[in-house]
Amino acid sequence: MMKKCRLLVLSLIAAVALMGFATIASAGPIVIKFSHVVAENTPKGQMANKFKELIEKRLPGKVVVEVFPNSQLFGDNKVLEAMLLGDVQLAAPSLSKFKKYTKSLQLYDLPFLFKDMAAVSTFQNGPFGQKMLMSLKSKGLIGLGYLHNGLKQLSSSSPLRVPADASKKKFRIMSSDVLAAQFEAVDAMPLKKPFSEVFTLLQTKAIDGQENTWSNIYSKKFFEVQPYITESNHGLLDYMIVTSAEFWMGLSDELRAGIKTSLDEAIVFGNTVAAQKSVDDRQKIIDSKRSEIIQLTDAQRLQWIEKMKPVWKQFEGQIGKDYIAAAIAANK
Ligand code: LMR
Repeated sequence: MMKKCRLLVLSLIAAVALMGFATIASAGPIVIKFSHVVAENTPKGQMANKFKELIEKRLPGKVVVEVFPNSQLFGDNKVLEAMLLGDVQLAAPSLSKFKKYTKSLQLYDLPFLFKDMAAVSTFQNGPFGQKMLMSLKSKGLIGLGYLHNGLKQLSSSSPLRVPADASKKKFRIMSSDVLAAQFEAVDAMPLKKPFSEVFTLLQTKAIDGQENTWSNIYSKKFFEVQPYITESNHGLLDYMIVTSAEFWMGLSDELRAGIKTSLDEAIVFGNTVAAQKSVDDRQKIIDSKRSEIIQLTDAQRLQWIEKMKPVWKQFEGQIGKDYIAAAIAANK
């Protein structure tokens, strides 16, 4: 009887072990869905594709990356909610789209804050920039790094040379209160709309203008429906690559390290693409002759700065004076 019982227990253990093995075997590789809103021929699009290539070489059969560009899977207003539900594992929304999750990132939207992309890198690699990557943690999200796009330009259906030219005009903005305040400061009417709707809004003249980088204006063909682009370099469009804490902490050390290394390499690649595209896509738009590029005189630029800069004070309490001071210091 004892022997029979032991045999039964042993075969039960074997069956459970086999079932366990079957579960692991059929679980297959970890699938990372990377959702973004821009075209593939942009810094973010190229970075995402590079990440897929690197990781599938580094961890073959262990991790599979599926990239969904052009808001195919989620728009930026839904992607973070989807991430918390486990429907997507990686995204790189613009820093202007985290309002619901943290106030500190509003820093990046302050007009005329960074003088160039080198200053942005200096700030992000410093203690404040690094701390901000963790500012979403209490909401279940982790920032794994930053990715550049570039400085924003103002496109419009009429020429914008001085702030008064923007008065009463409707501009599409990302979902940021700082950006709303920035346009209100020049007596314009900001409208928060998803990126996927911008082209149609411009084409149908439901809005007068928008602000974006050269690569977004080019890849989404905004220049074909916007006869004027003011080269204002007035603000920043940059991204944070985010994942959910639950997904990230659930990975083995080996996978987490492999994913992070691949991501860091893809970011370096993406930043090179960003720098190149800010020159090349600008030139392609000039060559197309669809849009006139307006250069501001120093005096005109000063007028925009004087009108928009008071926005800093408005948000200083939410962002933190020390963060703003560190960003200013990065310009030196
Ligand atoms: C926008 O919505 O204008 C941009 O954030 C799109 C992007 O991700 O570059």
